[in-house]
Amino acid sequence: MDIKPLITADEIDRKLAEIGRQISEDYAGKELLLVAVLRGAFMVMADLARHIDLACEFDFMAVSSYGASTQTSGVVRILKDLDEEIEGRHVLIVEDIIDSGLTLNYLLKSLKVRKPASLEIATLLLKDGIQRVPIDVKYVAFPIGPEFVVGYGLDYAGKYRNLPYVGVMGDES
Ligand code: IMP
Ligand code: MG
Repeated sequence: MDIKPLITADEIDRKLAEIGRQISEDYAGKELLLVAVLRGAFMVMADLARHIDLACEFDFMAVSSYGASTQTSGVVRILKDLDEEIEGRHVLIVEDIIDSGLTLNYLLKSLKVRKPASLEIATLLLKDGIQRVPIDVKYVAFPIGPEFVVGYGLDYAGKYRNLPYVGVMGDES
């Protein structure tokens, strides 16, 4: 399977440094709870966090959507909930990619009722203009097209998460 590089490791590193600085400014004087959505976001969480100069804590959620594997149904099952209470805390969700937005939309709804002081989203990739629900994303590293991408945490059938860059799956035909 050939994979065409789309965003290099260097570009990712520079952009995450910039977003990390922005987050450090925006939340100056506050404590932040970073929440990564497993599994894809583990890599962006680790690298972004190293550029955030604030008192931070970390938590993780795992979700899976019901139904077909390539399209999200919007009905999400929480496989692993947060360990932390979030009431009154500043929560920043870290995502690998936002496609239809349905997964995140569901997550946001289920977290908002727990009354965090603030709830924002940082994502590495945003598939531009194809969201099926309006989502307000505060930090976007790279807007991309609708193509299926892998690497830097993102998988195809469980593989390629370890690539240090983001690439587009090649056509096998
Ligand atoms: P949603 O459509 O925004 O709900 O996306 C749900 C999930 O689909 C994302 O968190 C990813 O795990 C996965 N996904 C969407 N697009 C891609 C892609 O291009 N490559 C790898 N995974 C993707
Ligand atoms: Mg994901």
